[in-house]
Amino acid sequence: MNLTTSTHHHISGTVQCPGDKSISQRVLIIGALMNQEMTVDGFLHGEDPLSTMNALNQIGAGITIDEKGLVYLCKKNHTFQNCDEPLNLGNSGTGLRLMLGLTSGIGLNLSFCGDESLSSRPMSRVINPLTEMGANIKSSNGKLPISISATSLQKQYIYELPVASAQVKSSILLAGLASGSVVEIIEPIQTRDHTERMLNNFGANIEISSKDGKNIIQLSSSNQLTAKNYKVVGDISSAAFLIVAALISKSSGLEITNVGMNPSRTGVLKALKKMGANIEVKNQRLESGEPCADLEVKRSKLKGVELSGEIIPNIIDEIPILSIAAAFAEGETLIKDAAELRVKESDRLQAISDGFSILGIAHKSFDDGISIMGSSKRLCIEEPIFIESHDDHRIAMSFLIAGLKCTKPITVKNCKNIFTSFPNFIELISSIGYKLEK
Ligand code: S3P
Repeated sequence: MNLTTSTHHHISGTVQCPGDKSISQRVLIIGALMNQEMTVDGFLHGEDPLSTMNALNQIGAGITIDEKGLVYLCKKNHTFQNCDEPLNLGNSGTGLRLMLGLTSGIGLNLSFCGDESLSSRPMSRVINPLTEMGANIKSSNGKLPISISATSLQKQYIYELPVASAQVKSSILLAGLASGSVVEIIEPIQTRDHTERMLNNFGANIEISSKDGKNIIQLSSSNQLTAKNYKVVGDISSAAFLIVAALISKSSGLEITNVGMNPSRTGVLKALKKMGANIEVKNQRLESGEPCADLEVKRSKLKGVELSGEIIPNIIDEIPILSIAAAFAEGETLIKDAAELRVKESDRLQAISDGFSILGIAHKSFDDGISIMGSSKRLCIEEPIFIESHDDHRIAMSFLIAGLKCTKPITVKNCKNIFTSFPNFIELISSIGYKLEK
């Protein structure tokens, strides 16, 4: 599915932010493990959470969705079961890494597969610690296909994260939770803490402290979780596309309601504000243990900034759209310490650079980042432009937003992966004044 942008647009209105992908996946996994009745409202009906749901149902979870989109977790009389068919996690790194933790902890015999992108992504980062915990995992050089066979895990495990990854942290916590092991994780740089918050919300015995500037996350072996109906807040990573659209284009102001404001995810707002963005945060509240708010965004003059160090894990999913904001900001933006971008759904540093080269946006790439020479002027398009999405949802949406600053329509190729994280992107963006043609 190719998408072509339009040149007549005026961004305005009020929209509701789609549900958070990370939280939607976690609530299914933790909810299934609790084995109690519970509903989930605001769930993201994207391909990634749905592939996690299918995988959980394959091992006997019995999760259902009603016609209004409300998700039901039920109480089963039997425990989880092995499955001969591989669990297919599609495009979802979170789904695969978290399910590996959960199912190693339960002790099942299973195999896992995924799409081409997921099959090329590194899984040793979870296989190694899970194996140290006692799991029996076979992989193809640390990649899919992966199979696990039932074993019981050690009663106690301490691990210091070598990469700043919430997926690795969560995989180990879920393995510990499912096996009843005591787990201590040392996290040198803060990553998103949705798993910790959710476990706390359902009454787990989890404590977070800090020592020598590192987070220490301790999960005890005895956890009596109690289900309660859950409300998923909106995904700030999806909101980021709408925010940048309103900042860089002709816009009379955009309101985005129900945006997740977890401090481990709001780096994108900090970065944009440093660039000069006019974003007002209103109605701050808490939903199921997660902060959320409504945002009011006004067209702004942006300037280049440096983004490096501790903020990087916090903005890791927003760097593609921040790069588009940087391309239309005055001056240089320097992004460093972001080598993790090379092992996301695509090599995102390469994908951004390729798109910029086609659009004529001056930039320099390095191993762990990119420097972008921005200008607030519209890009003068003289011949038909086709940009590769690299089969990556965030690259596709980022370059579609760049189309707002082009003098003629541009086409982004192979955009179907947008459905993994933002299934109503085309309708929502059209409702605020920007039409995309299939
Ligand atoms: C996620 C964590 C991040 C992020 C991904 C979702 C999660 O990945 O990029 O989109 O839900 O835990 P890493 O943990 O690999 O950094």
